[in-house]
Order: sequence, then C-alpha cells, then structure tokens
Amino acid sequence: MSVPAKRLYALCGSLRTRSTNRALLEAIRRLAPHSVEVEISGLIGLMPIFNPDLEGDLTPEPVLTFAQEIATADGLIVSAPEYAHGIPGGLKNALDWLVSRFEIPGKPVMLVHASHRGDFALEALTEVLKTIATDLRPETFLRVPLLGKSEDEIAAILGAPETEHAICSALGRFMGAVAAKDPASR
Ligand SMILES: Cc1cc2nc3c(=O)[nH]c(=O)nc-3n(C[C@H](O)[C@H](O)[C@H](O)COP(=O)(O)O)c2cc1C
Repeated sequence: MSVPAKRLYALCGSLRTRSTNRALLEAIRRLAPHSVEVEISGLIGLMPIFNPDLEGDLTPEPVLTFAQEIATADGLIVSAPEYAHGIPGGLKNALDWLVSRFEIPGKPVMLVHASHRGDFALEALTEVLKTIATDLRPETFLRVPLLGKSEDEIAAILGAPETEHAICSALGRFMGAVAAKDPASR
C-alpha cells in the first residue's frame, strides 16, 4: 500500500540569504522521506504590515496566497532567529495576518532553532503559536546550533550523522503527529 504524500510548509524568520535558520530548514527538506514534501515559504517578506482594516475583501494578494499555502499544508515548520529578545518582525507580521482566519487553528507545528541562544524569541514564539491555536508539538522541538559558524562548518554540522539522526528523529515524531490528525490514517 502506498504511503499518502504529506506537505509541510516551512516559515523562516530570517530573510538573510545565508540564514542559518534557512540552512536548517533546507537540511530538513533534504532529509525528509520521499512521501513528505517540504516547501520553504518565500512570502514572509512580501506581506504588507498587518492592518485589521484590510481583512476580508481587502486582504492583500500575498496574504491570500500565504493563507492558501497554510490551508493546504499538513503541518508547519517554524525556524526563526531572535531579534532584540523577540520574534523577527516579518514572521510576527505574517502570523498576525492569520489570527482572525480559519487556516491556522489546529495546524500541527514543529519548532526548530539554529542557535544556542535565542530563548526569549523561542518563548515568545511558543506563546504566539499557542495563542493563535496552532497544534504546537513540543516533542518535535529541534535545536541545531549554527550561529557563528562558517559556511563549511555549517555544511559539516548539517551533514554529520548525529545531526541527520536528530533531524530525522524529530521529523519522524512530527510526521507521526501529522498522521494522527489524518482520518485516512486511522
Ligand atoms: C537586529 C538583530 C538583533 C539581534 N538580537 C539578538 C538577540 O536579542 N539575541 C540573540 O541571541 N541574538 C540576536 N541576534 C543574532 C541573531 O539572532 C543570530 O545571528 C541568528 O542566528 C541569525 O539567524 P539567521 O542566520 O537565520 O539569520 C540579533 C541579530 C540582529 C541582526
């Protein structure tokens, strides 16, 4: 019997070209089983600043596309740096657009982090993700410290067997949580 394909949508809180959080998400995408598609959102930096006056019929196009991507995803992966002890503005803005919408409640979320620091941001992100009623899965949290490493060191860390094992284990736990939500898999 073939395994049904699943789609994960990944939100990166850093827009930096050489973002370590993006590198971690790309490693997750590389290591995901064939039945799991991981798409890293390119929309976080394209959405205007959230304005409740623009909800409903006036919702801007990038927000509608973003919401559609969330709606069709079986789960979300979120990875973000800490900026000034908080959540990066672009990611918080993207989440604010979802607050009053139907796409986000109950959506399974895996939180990952690419720094040995940043616990203020992780705490704030956890609170926000719970507040907007996602199904945040704490057992899938994954930290791979890449802050301050060179590109070669980052490639070596992400390609090391122990890192790959940690990524595959966390992703496996997350896919278990995602599958448990799917009536077809019961
Ligand atoms: C504007 C700014 C503010 C930052 N504030 C913090 C901070 O409060 N705490 C922290 O641990 N790192 C802070 N950092 C460092 C970033 O969180 C860190 O470099 C992160 O790993 C970058 O992620 P990225 O490689 O995905 O862009 C800050 C960086 C910038 C650019």
